[in-house]
Amino acid sequence: MHQIKIIGGVPLKGEIAISGAKNAALPLMTAALLTDEPLILTNMPHLADITSMEALLDQHGVHLSSDLNLKTLTLTARTIHNTTAPYDIVRKMRASILVLGPLVARCGQAQVSLPGGCAIGVRPIDIHLSGLRELGAEIDLLDGYIHAKAPKGLIGATITMPIISVTATENLMMAACLAKGETRLINAAREPEIVDLANCLITMGADIVGAGTDTITIQGKNRLHGGTHRVIPDRIETGTYAMAAAITRGSIHLTNTSLDLIPTASAHLQRAGITLTPTEQGFHVTAPEKDIQGVDVMTEPYPGFATDLQAQMMALMTICRGASLVTETIWENRFMHVPELCRMGANITVHGSSALVRGIDTLRGAPVMATDLRASVCLVLAGLAAEGETLINRVYHLDRGYERVEDKLRGCGARIERIAE
Ligand code: EPU
Repeated sequence: MHQIKIIGGVPLKGEIAISGAKNAALPLMTAALLTDEPLILTNMPHLADITSMEALLDQHGVHLSSDLNLKTLTLTARTIHNTTAPYDIVRKMRASILVLGPLVARCGQAQVSLPGGCAIGVRPIDIHLSGLRELGAEIDLLDGYIHAKAPKGLIGATITMPIISVTATENLMMAACLAKGETRLINAAREPEIVDLANCLITMGADIVGAGTDTITIQGKNRLHGGTHRVIPDRIETGTYAMAAAITRGSIHLTNTSLDLIPTASAHLQRAGITLTPTEQGFHVTAPEKDIQGVDVMTEPYPGFATDLQAQMMALMTICRGASLVTETIWENRFMHVPELCRMGANITVHGSSALVRGIDTLRGAPVMATDLRASVCLVLAGLAAEGETLINRVYHLDRGYERVEDKLRGCGARIERIAE
């Protein structure tokens, strides 16, 4: 087990290149199951979750070949010899559920382990299952597995999703590409990752209109073909490093990204006094000379403030002038970073789904425990700003979603290292 040691107090200065988006890359990889031809993905991030997805697809029979230098992954699902997604892989990564739609659509059956709960919430998958049922699949839950069958193929339908779900929209959009006739997904998620997946599917021959709006219409095809697709930049990594620059009172240039990917987070940062200046390759982030202002934040589906940036924004707000009310509306248990931030001197009180953050002058380094991916990086940000040494335990969470995080931060002057326990 590794720990991350940070000696805080250094303003970040320099340039950070943003990697391809984890949450775009994972569904894109499963889209390879829809065709017997190669799908080539470029700008792929190198992350633990990507390795888990590779292992899952490999055991389904997908041939994978990657070039880490070129950040390219080629996936070829010529034949699928196993339609079961086993518990051992699914329990490590809930995004494994994304094989369900493509497998049923292509093979007429799939057995996927139920993902179970996770640190940030219960996370049901009822919308994935009811949507597939509306497409004609028979679904049973047996021995901890979802057993889905559609021996005669899926049939297009109009599906109104009761709440906005990112991966359910992705699963159903992929399944509908090989269904007979038209499918309409109503109350669909509008995240940039949905648009990226739709663009890739269109390159593969799919007929999809409306991705990025709340209604997506798909005309099913008999088959899809291969293609090449570039993964969009990671908007959560983008927002995270923008907040890292702000919390350390630094100034950094983020490249291979765009301010357009974080419309609401950038507006909040600007209200807090941070200067964001677009450039050809991305944007500059510069912290204010005076105090960072407290701003209220409420997480919402895109284009609202991303839940995956809530913990990082809260770290920034701990040293703001005044107070900030942070409200989490997506996940019921996503304040696990609060007690850890409080160990570093933060003044935060939680009332139900809201946390009142009263700004203090400085955080102080302390040993802390990472509880999930975004909570881990929030502690990294707090450590970068804190006086003295912060030691973060359970950093494996970080490796699921942040590529070379220590290298990227060290390149901007941070005193951060990974040590063996
Ligand atoms: N929900 C249901 N039933 C469902 C599906 C979702 O009740 O069948 C609920 C969830 O419990 C939650 C809400 O709907 O309260 C939204 O969940 P959603 O399904 O949109 O989340 P997800 O698709 O499982 C993706 C990201 C998450 C991100 C959320 C919200 C991927 C692989 N994961 O999860 O990313 O927090 O959307 O934006 O795309 C992360 O990267 O750290 C992460 C957790």
